Amino acid sequence: MMKLWGGRFTKSTHKLVDEFTASVMFDQKLAMEDIEGSIAHVSMLGKQGIIPAEDAQTIKEGLFIIRQRIEKGEFEFSVADEDVHMNIEKALIEEVGSVGGKLHTGRSRNDQVATDMHLYLCNRMREVIELLKGLQQVLVNKAEANIDTVIPGYTHLQRAQPVLFAHHMMAYFWMFQRDVERFQDALKRADMLPLGAGAMAGTTFPIDREYVAEQLGFSKIYENSLDAVSDRDYILEFLSDSAITMMHMSRFCEELVLWSSTEFQFIELDDAFCTGSSIMPQKKNPDVAELVRGKTGRVYGHLMSLLTVMKSLPLAYNKDLQEDKEGMFDVVDTLKMSLTLFAPMIETMKLNEDVLKRTVNQDFANATDLADYLVRKQLPFRDAHEVIGKTVLYCIQNQKFLPDLTMEEYKQFSDLFEDDVYEVINPINVVNARNVHGGTAKPQVLAAIEKAKALL
Ligand code: ARG
Repeated sequence: MMKLWGGRFTKSTHKLVDEFTASVMFDQKLAMEDIEGSIAHVSMLGKQGIIPAEDAQTIKEGLFIIRQRIEKGEFEFSVADEDVHMNIEKALIEEVGSVGGKLHTGRSRNDQVATDMHLYLCNRMREVIELLKGLQQVLVNKAEANIDTVIPGYTHLQRAQPVLFAHHMMAYFWMFQRDVERFQDALKRADMLPLGAGAMAGTTFPIDREYVAEQLGFSKIYENSLDAVSDRDYILEFLSDSAITMMHMSRFCEELVLWSSTEFQFIELDDAFCTGSSIMPQKKNPDVAELVRGKTGRVYGHLMSLLTVMKSLPLAYNKDLQEDKEGMFDVVDTLKMSLTLFAPMIETMKLNEDVLKRTVNQDFANATDLADYLVRKQLPFRDAHEVIGKTVLYCIQNQKFLPDLTMEEYKQFSDLFEDDVYEVINPINVVNARNVHGGTAKPQVLAAIEKAKALL
């Protein structure tokens, strides 16, 4: 079979080489961006008089036809034509005749593929930002709908201090807010046109890069042709931002898995987001949460693999760069699917109010407040810590919790204790006592929710 680059060769490639070097099996995902880029490029060639305007028109019409065929699934990509770019160019020449061969004037696949990837990733990152915002909206709704529910807060996975469930949801809101901002920031650098760099040094034709950038909606142009064709930072940024977002979801998933276990029973995930066991009839497994947690690993892997591909690559284009795609496509699919499922999984989960109430009333998460109580009565904090430590130990030894102690028992530890102590250790009062900016008191959480809404 005749190659588009076959002129210099006297022999055909080894029978496995076509398959080994081809990328069309995966880069056909770039077909729409490739055609969009070609349309802008050929319009510019016509406008600049680099090729006759009629030829530019013919080529554009040919590209429209090919686009339609691809959209209808009537286009057959062939490994023999290596990649999406050559598949489309070859089909164009078949469609409009040899004039189609003028499309590649002043262009190389090196700046072409980079342009496709920039277009593709800008679009995907905008979609990811929308999905993140949808999830943030769900978190705000969940926080508002459960504004009075108290849950245990943990450090070291040991009960620490009670918090509002809404406060916990809003913690994730702010994590996802940083993710949104990271993707918005990455967009600034993805939003940059490489086309016009040619193979690596620029082109001898009087092209108009600003015009192409405008046609394609790019707000900036690469300043250096070597950099333009060999830069994959924008993909690395997308992969690292995705890795961080997946990490956030994975932490949340871990909590959902714990909270829905029989040991915790804080929440019940909706049946729609769980699956059963083929052997144990009683099981309802939080598979979606587990799988989001698990898929975080492959996203990290793709980030590591592209960093490793890029390491030590000399300027400018090297075929190694073709390895930038499969991982990126997989991350796009994994991240979008995870975000798409995550939002309704959170939206539909139910809180077990009774269990939560019992739980926060049967622990020592109010011990800090008891110490603070003594401190307000001018006992130095270190002494108060010691007194309450002993009080807690006494409770544990006598199978009691702090509210169960009589005033007589309290007085054994300090005569500063008075009847108002029982109010202080009530979980809702413990929560509302933390009335500082960023704290878990209800007025603070309500204020945070208002701030959050303004961002959506
Ligand atoms: N399929 C190639 C890639 O994805 C396109 C660029 C090929 N350029 C080249 N000089 N072989 O990187």
